[in-house]
Amino acid sequence: MHAATHLLATDLDGTLVGDQNSLQTLLSFYNNQPYNVSLIYITGRHYESALSLINEENLPVPDVLITDVGTAIYIGDTLEQDLAWSQHLEQSWMPEKIDAIACQIPDLVSQKLPVTNRCSYYATDVNIVEAFRTALDQAGITYKLIYSGGRDVDILPAGSGKGQALQYILNKYQLNNAKLLVAGDSGNDAEMLTMGFPSVIVGNAQPELLEQQKHPSIYRAMNSYAGGIHEAWHHFYTK
Ligand code: GLC
Ligand code: MG
Repeated sequence: MHAATHLLATDLDGTLVGDQNSLQTLLSFYNNQPYNVSLIYITGRHYESALSLINEENLPVPDVLITDVGTAIYIGDTLEQDLAWSQHLEQSWMPEKIDAIACQIPDLVSQKLPVTNRCSYYATDVNIVEAFRTALDQAGITYKLIYSGGRDVDILPAGSGKGQALQYILNKYQLNNAKLLVAGDSGNDAEMLTMGFPSVIVGNAQPELLEQQKHPSIYRAMNSYAGGIHEAWHHFYTK
């Protein structure tokens, strides 16, 4: 990772994954370039679920796998967990308290995940999400709330999230001069897409992302899924 010159930091579901043909075209395009493109996958899924997707879809094993909406990071061929990141986030993290508060909000349904590094729920009404936010604030909890797809409510440790995790990796490996493209399709990608890095919102993105303010570093692709990433790569790097 230290010497990486080109980086694709991408969400999986609905972004890199979604259309096999354009995915294969993108991967062979990268294979044919004179440079190597290091891959950073940044997903809302937990580790086991992300690995299943990588296997099912025959995705290349990434250089870095960021799971759980940026609350866990795995690095290298053996996908070793980055303990410095986990320990940093654990310092003021209170998953039991958050779950106890969630239990008192009607119609907020637990996702029942096998992890405690984030707390995720389902809610289809934004008023429920706001009631939850108020209750967390009243309890003096520090957290980051991300509501996406009109369904998923992720409560993350403050200081985490997809964008913060990506920034941590760029700092850790001193990659701030590498050519980077960030790609996403839904609300939990908004943070990483608005950090000022060359970014793409793929053509099939959820309305919640399309409502994002226009920004010179954000390219809105016509093409969907990996086709949108390919289009944006040309826009930023092969013009
Ligand atoms: C993925 C995860 C889910 C999370 C959602 C939004 O679908 O599986 O747990 O809430 O992304 O980040
Ligand atoms: Mg997605």
